[in-house]
Amino acid sequence: MGGIPHDHYEPKSNFEKGMQTRLPIIGLLYDTLMIPTPKNLNWMWIWGIVLVFALVMQIVTGIVLVMHYIPHVDMAFASVEHIMRDVNGGHMIRYFHMNGASLMFFAVYMHIFRGLYYGSYKSPREVTWVLGSLMLVLMMGIAFMGYVLPWGQMSFHGTAVITGLFGAIPFVGEAVQTWLLGAGAVGQPALNRFFSLHYLLPFILLGLTILHVWAFHTTGNNNPTGVEVRRTSKEDAAKDTLPFWPYFVIKDLFALAIIMVLFMAVVGFMPNYLGHPDNYIPANPLATPAHIVPEWYLLPFYAVLRAFTADVWLVMLVEWISFGIIDAKFFGVIAMFGAIVVLALAPWLDTSSVRSGRYRPMFKWWFWLLVADFILLMWVGARPAEFPYDWIALIGSAYWFAYFLVILPLLGVIEKPDQAPATIEEDFNAHYPQKADGKAAAQPAE
Ligand code: HEM
Repeated sequence: MGGIPHDHYEPKSNFEKGMQTRLPIIGLLYDTLMIPTPKNLNWMWIWGIVLVFALVMQIVTGIVLVMHYIPHVDMAFASVEHIMRDVNGGHMIRYFHMNGASLMFFAVYMHIFRGLYYGSYKSPREVTWVLGSLMLVLMMGIAFMGYVLPWGQMSFHGTAVITGLFGAIPFVGEAVQTWLLGAGAVGQPALNRFFSLHYLLPFILLGLTILHVWAFHTTGNNNPTGVEVRRTSKEDAAKDTLPFWPYFVIKDLFALAIIMVLFMAVVGFMPNYLGHPDNYIPANPLATPAHIVPEWYLLPFYAVLRAFTADVWLVMLVEWISFGIIDAKFFGVIAMFGAIVVLALAPWLDTSSVRSGRYRPMFKWWFWLLVADFILLMWVGARPAEFPYDWIALIGSAYWFAYFLVILPLLGVIEKPDQAPATIEEDFNAHYPQKADGKAAAQPAE
């Protein structure tokens, strides 16, 4: 399959010609910026740019924080307080970084559910999708390790709980846990290595982002119809697309401006709203908080982790078959990672020949149920592990897996899809009818 036919960079001046035969970076930038983009993209296509922006913001604010932060168990908490009180603009930089993590996760969840609805994961965009799933896991690791650094009560006891999970791995668990912590318990070595990794991994995430963008630039973007850009000729491709610059740059910047206004409102007026007050108490190994809860964005996966307790028949069955090697704790760990693995496998689990959910009448219902399920899991992840929350978590987790492993494969076989438009141009014109003179009418039709 060839790319979308379009006008590639033509060097003009002697300098450009010279560069093009030596280091064709101007050509690369030009082709990236002018890439033909489906002209019917809606507002759900802004989240990728928001993510890139937020990642850069996290790296910049993080580097400034590191100038004042001290990764030592006796000084970490105090150094964060010092940033908040004494460093010029320090409280703002810290609140940007703290809430920036929330912005990234909000954006990534919108981005993922956009992909799930419009079938962006389907062939030929599997590589983009799998890279994205890897990036999600990496984001979770980075956020978790960042949360350890202020060395508050939640940092300390959360680290104990999460690294304890690795202790559940059969045979090698204890060794892995000790290796992760650099010691037998949470302490200075753990703080040091989490600090080191929290600094390093965002750059790996940036590298993966470049691969991710490269991958979807190679296949071209999906769009709300799921119908591909015509590759028959340059003229046809031009009818389905617009160059990224200036059309989508301006649109994305507009969206980004609105999102930043909302973000600044959170940073300015309610910077601790999404955090847990216990993390403003210095870490005390001898006093365990009543409820150890992760940040909101990790809650759905935390709910899956806790859902599979020893009295669930499936867990009992697996424990029996595996001669006790896979116990409830390890089962929970497998389920938590499994929840992301099934997401990553969506391209191969969805059997429908139609890409976009817009033209899939049955799929729509199950999809929105999945969105509701995700929110439910997020809510229940913060509740105590007792009746009825344990049941809600179990049902919610079961639906997550059923959606990917049963519903997606089955729907493709039993569902009768609606008629999708033949081309992107047709969809675009249906939304923006042309006047007789060929110019778009002022008002888009409903
Ligand atoms: C740090 C994390 C991420 C960054 C910076 C990022 C960045 C981007 C950007 C800039 C785009 C193009 C604009 C857009 O479609 O919104 C994009 C597209 C895409 N992303 Fe991500 N992404 C991230 C995570 C993810 C994750 C977790 C997934 C899925 C599991 C994913 C799946 C996709 C797909 C399938 C596309 C192509 C969409 C299309 O062509 O219509 N991304 N990403």
